[in-house]
Amino acid sequence: MKNIPLKLAILASGSGSNLQVLIDKQLNNELNIDIACVICNKENAYALTRAKSANINTFIIDKDDTGKPYKRVEFEQRALDILRQLQPDLVVLAGFMKILTPLFIGGVNNDLNIPMINLHPSILPAYKGLDTHARVLKSGERLHGCSVHLVTEELDAGQILTQSVLIVKPNDTPTTLQERVHALEHTLLPRTIDFIIKGVIDLDDVKQIYQFFSHK
Ligand code: GAR
Repeated sequence: MKNIPLKLAILASGSGSNLQVLIDKQLNNELNIDIACVICNKENAYALTRAKSANINTFIIDKDDTGKPYKRVEFEQRALDILRQLQPDLVVLAGFMKILTPLFIGGVNNDLNIPMINLHPSILPAYKGLDTHARVLKSGERLHGCSVHLVTEELDAGQILTQSVLIVKPNDTPTTLQERVHALEHTLLPRTIDFIIKGVIDLDDVKQIYQFFSHK
């Protein structure tokens, strides 16, 4: 039987270090994926450079021909058109920093019937939204980490699939925490996708959250 790679569409906005991990795993045959495209809402995002270097189809939906930034609805309609054309098996939000509306989320999940996952830098359901590392430190939390969850219309609130947890150190700063969480993400995201590929996680019937603990 032929082992068909899982076709991914990745949405990214920034540095794209998580995208890079997926690119490397695909190139090294460590993950049975085919990154069909990277869609980006920032024309100068380093994620685009990474994707282009790997000869991945890139789509920049930032400004129109006159230099006017696309409205949210325009971004979403264009992104939906791309996904409709490419028909990926899974949409991955890997550092995608634009809030998505029900138009896009419903379009992907219901009309196109494609599951969508998001990587978030906190142990959800705690610390949804932005600036998670600073907020975690300010609250004096002992634990922090990252989650991969299904995307639903409510922000960062869909079914959690996997999480990695670390212990906050007394001398941690938002920057050191961000670096340490990033390192966890670089293992968690490919591992989650591998679980989906291998059927350990059934996205239509999620039975448990897989949690990993880091002592580093
Ligand atoms: C990651 O830490 C990811 O969890 C976060 O953006 C970073 C992207 O890093 N995502 C969010 O905050 C989404 N709300 P990367 O561009 O180096 O992959």
